[in-house]
Amino acid sequence: MTHGIRFSRHGGSEVLEYVEVPTQTPGANEVLVRNQAIGMNFIDIYGREGLYPVSSFPSGLGTEAAGIIEAVGEDVQAFSPGDRVAYAQGPLGAYSQLHCLPAEFLIPLPESISFDVAAASLLKGMTVQYLLRQVHEVKAGDTILFHAAAGGVGTLACQWANALGARLIGTVSTDEKAELARSLGADAIINYTTEDVVERVKALTDNELCDVVYDSVGKDTWPVSLDCVKRRGLIVSFGNASGPVEGVNLGILNQKGSLFVTRPSLGGYADTPSRRKAMAAELFDMIERGAIDVQINQRFALSEAGKAQDALMQRRTTGATLLIP
Ligand SMILES: NC(=O)c1ccc[n+]([C@@H]2O[C@H](COP(=O)([O-])OP(=O)(O)OC[C@H]3O[C@@H](n4cnc5c(N)ncnc54)[C@H](OP(=O)(O)O)[C@@H]3O)[C@@H](O)[C@H]2O)c1
Repeated sequence: MTHGIRFSRHGGSEVLEYVEVPTQTPGANEVLVRNQAIGMNFIDIYGREGLYPVSSFPSGLGTEAAGIIEAVGEDVQAFSPGDRVAYAQGPLGAYSQLHCLPAEFLIPLPESISFDVAAASLLKGMTVQYLLRQVHEVKAGDTILFHAAAGGVGTLACQWANALGARLIGTVSTDEKAELARSLGADAIINYTTEDVVERVKALTDNELCDVVYDSVGKDTWPVSLDCVKRRGLIVSFGNASGPVEGVNLGILNQKGSLFVTRPSLGGYADTPSRRKAMAAELFDMIERGAIDVQINQRFALSEAGKAQDALMQRRTTGATLLIP
């Protein structure tokens, strides 16, 4: 037997239970990983609450962790027990001491990347890779607006955009978060709870506005995002921290300047083993070169996953949050 988080209905953090669960035997193409560090992500909250419903109950939660392979299925050639690996996709259940998943989701870990850094950065960093390098290839001189710039994804985006020579304007809710994002390379920060974001963006850009707006806050920031992007510019709506964007009249894109909008997901970009390996390799290279310093700013015991999710939901975290099994 082993231990992990399970939940039997959607709801608040109280539905998460730390329980004893049977140890799984890997199927033919699967591996069993002993997690050393588990990454917490906002998407885990969508799963718990039911915005992204789970397939059946009781369910595990989480898709990101780093650890050591304990056992492999009979058809697995590329990995062996004892290998250091990380993963950011696959079946729910990463919030556990042991997690069984198809080998295709594993990323081998270079010696230079610790379990903590991998679990704190793989999902969020592969996301930033596709946002800044694939959805739109950010170049030197681009001006981008990135909401929630002091969060897990945001702190990686500040550094990556800076390394690409782009100008990142970030939004945050507190002075402390503003200071953190600035220290990581954000060119300017707007407190979207106290300042007029559109007026500040106009002032910061001489009324030129932004080439791209990256919006993971969703419902609360969508109207602002529409007014911060330049004619024929792009809005990348990639999350729902304040609730999903719904009921959009496409005519608004015409009125605001022939805008482009996309609603991408990591699964849509890291959709094959070779693509996810290439994206992870680019992330690890950025970390190894020192262009990205992964901010691990909260650690909780795995048994306290509910408390950790409350901190994330209540905007009390910065950078990444780890669960330690
Ligand atoms: N589509 C994809 O492929 C993909 C992949 C990974 C993550 N995401 C999305 O990216 C976002 C960031 O993920 P993360 O795990 O790194 O989380 P995070 O940014 O560390 O936390 C969310 C942040 O959103 C801000 N926020 C604004 N309004 C909020 C509200 N009403 N409730 C809670 N937070 C609010 C808060 O920052 P302030 O206090 O500064 O406002 C909060 O710290 C999430 O929306 C997530 O779903 C999408």
